[in-house]
This record gives sequence, C-alpha cells and structure tokens, in this order.
Amino acid sequence: MLAGKRILLVIGGGIAAFKALELIRLIRKEGGAVTPVLTNAAKEFVTPLSASALAAEKVYTDLFDLTDEAEMGHIELSRSADLLVVAPATADLMAKMAGGHADDLASTLLMATDTPVLVAPAMNVRMWLNPANQRNVALLEGDGVHRVGPDEGDMACGEYGPGRMAEPQAILAAIVERLADGPLKGRHILVTSGPTTEPIDPVRYIANRSSGAQGTAIAQALAGLGARVTFITGPATVPPPQSVTVIKVETAQEMLDAVRATLPADAAIFAAAVADWRMATASGGKIKKDKSGKPPALELTENPDILATISKLKKGRPRLIVGFAAETDDVIKNATAKRKRKGCDWIVANDVSPETGIMGGSENAVTLIDADGADSWPRATKDQVARRLAQRIADALS
Ligand code: C5P
Repeated sequence: MLAGKRILLVIGGGIAAFKALELIRLIRKEGGAVTPVLTNAAKEFVTPLSASALAAEKVYTDLFDLTDEAEMGHIELSRSADLLVVAPATADLMAKMAGGHADDLASTLLMATDTPVLVAPAMNVRMWLNPANQRNVALLEGDGVHRVGPDEGDMACGEYGPGRMAEPQAILAAIVERLADGPLKGRHILVTSGPTTEPIDPVRYIANRSSGAQGTAIAQALAGLGARVTFITGPATVPPPQSVTVIKVETAQEMLDAVRATLPADAAIFAAAVADWRMATASGGKIKKDKSGKPPALELTENPDILATISKLKKGRPRLIVGFAAETDDVIKNATAKRKRKGCDWIVANDVSPETGIMGGSENAVTLIDADGADSWPRATKDQVARRLAQRIADALS
C-alpha cells in the first residue's frame, strides 16, 4: 500500500523510541521506504545501527556531517520524502517545531520541509497536559501538522493517562491514510468483523465460529483503495489487517458502542457475526455445579442489532450501509427480506450450509442484493470477493 513512497522518520528521544523500530518494519512490509533520522536524545534509547539495519538505509543524525552534505544536503533530505513522520514526538521536539527552532538535524529538517508532517506525541501525562505543551499542540495543528495519538494508558513512568505514543500499527494507518492513492482516498469506512463473545460468568462465554477472515479481507481491500478504515473486531482467529485503525471489542454491546463512537463514516460494512443473545444477567462469580446434579438454566436476552440500529439512524447515517446474511436455505429470498427488515442498502448473502465449506474456509460465493435485485458472483477466494466488493463500494461512493 506504500509502494513507491518514502517516509522520513524522525525518532525523538523518549522511551517510546523502541516502538519506532517496529514502525520501520511495518512501513517496509507495506512496500514503503524509510529514511531514519535520530535526534541526539534518541540515540540514548535506540541505536542508529538498529534503525539502519531495519530500514536497510543510511541513518542521519548530525547537522554538520559534511559527507552527508556532499551526498545529500539537509534541504534535499527533507524534501525527498512523501511524508515526514515524527515518532516519538517529544514535548521538546514539538516545542521546537512550534517555535520554529532549527538547532539540530531533526528540527532543521522539519523547518526546511514543504512536505506534510505527521507527529506521534509521546510523553508523561503531566507534560502532555501542561498548558505550554497544549499551546504547542494547538499551534502545530494550526500550521497543518497532522497528529496521531497520544493514547491513554499505563505509562513507562508508572503513571496513567494520555501521553502514550500511538501503537505502531495506528501510526502506520495514519501514514497510509495520508499517502495511499485510490478512488476511496478521503473516505472514512467502518468495518465490523469477527464473532462477539458474551460472558456467562467470569470464565465461560457464548461465542460462534466466525474467523473474521472475510471482514479482515474487506478492510484490507478498502484500505488498498485509499480509504481510512476503522476496523471494529471481536475476538477473531485471523490477525487484523495492517494499515487500518483497529478497535478490539468482545460483546455486541461493546461493538455497538465502538461503532457509534467511530461515526461519522461515509460507509459502514457490518461483516461481524454478532451473537444474537447474551445472558440476561452474567454471573459475577464462576457458576458451580449444583449438588443435586441439575444443570443451571441460562436465561438469555436479545442483543442490540447493530446493523439495524445504525441503518435506522435519523442523523449521521453513513451514506452506504452493507450488511451480511449467512443463510442455509432460500438464500436470496431470505436475504432480500433481511435487507428490507434491517433498513440497510446492500446485503451480501452467502450460503453457509456445511457442505459449502464457506464458514471458516478461504473461499466464498456471494450474492449482492441491492434495491435493483440480486447479483450472484462466482465462487472465489475471500480476498477476491473483498476486492470486488471494495471496488463496488468505491463506485457507489464516487
Ligand atoms: O439477522 P442476522 O444476524 O442474520 O443479520 C446479519 C447481519 O446483521 C450482519 O451484517 C451482522 O453483522 C448484522 N448484525 C448486527 N447485530 C446483531 C446481529 C446481526 O449488526 N445483533
């Protein structure tokens, strides 16, 4: 997704610098090239050799390195990239950027560039909340600097709060969003995927056999066409896609909350196999065997229908909503009725009878149902189905 793109990665001096090494690996896996630049402080946390080995490129550290100036001046260096990424962006580095300082290689490159800049801040929670830092963040925003994170969570210093650097995968997603070209560039699409699990007690849960393979392939294909994808997944067996924002949930209620928090979106694809029921009241303690030998009665209640809830939104409804229908008989008839009942725009219907081998398998045979009728696609791999669906979504949103 980043083939032919070059990222100039400025690594600042913070404990999160080690995550920048993982980021180099992820960018290269997507086909992008990385030129690493380390600040003096960064060298205290990671070595130039590690960054160079992972990037398979020369690493730049000093402003007054005459050999480099002969090979490539700092002005040219700052402009040869498609995007400048600062990760971790320390409070000091952002203050320099906001103030227009240029007293080392990193800050000089950032001053000299006319290329878009993305910062991934990382610092102690008090430093993040400090008014001086907040002022600098606002100034940078006003200057058009893009930002990913920081996240909230436990910090290396033992405190809790906002300040943790965004995970490398989220930084990669932000990079792809800035750089990937394609018909869905500038569009935000949410995809639900995988099963949901509903607790019975602290150790047991209700689940289903969804692997998350089709939803994952769809998210990847949409990102491949340039969309900014938010991927909301239950505990799936396949790993989530690389270059998208991933939100992990367990229950249907959590999935609905995450979907609501993710809106607005141009399109929403509900590929998750959401559990229809949950325990009316999950037990706070482990349910023990009854001395009489009688098994416990599990009282169930219905889960919210995420697809129907979002499809019926009066305000903020995504322009295109796609639901799935896994059926074992009368596929087209049942799925057509489901499209009406749920209020979505399209239904992707498939036959999941055991003899088809589709559930948990690598292939799928789907029928796309929209207002005009049913269109049956030939059986293909889930990746191929995903790419065809992504293209159709791109056409519908254009
Ligand atoms: O009614 P059924 O489960 O067959 O509908 C399948 C479609 O509805 C899928 O797109 C699925 O993601 C969605 N769904 C949902 N919330 C539920 C049940 C299903 O979003 N509680």
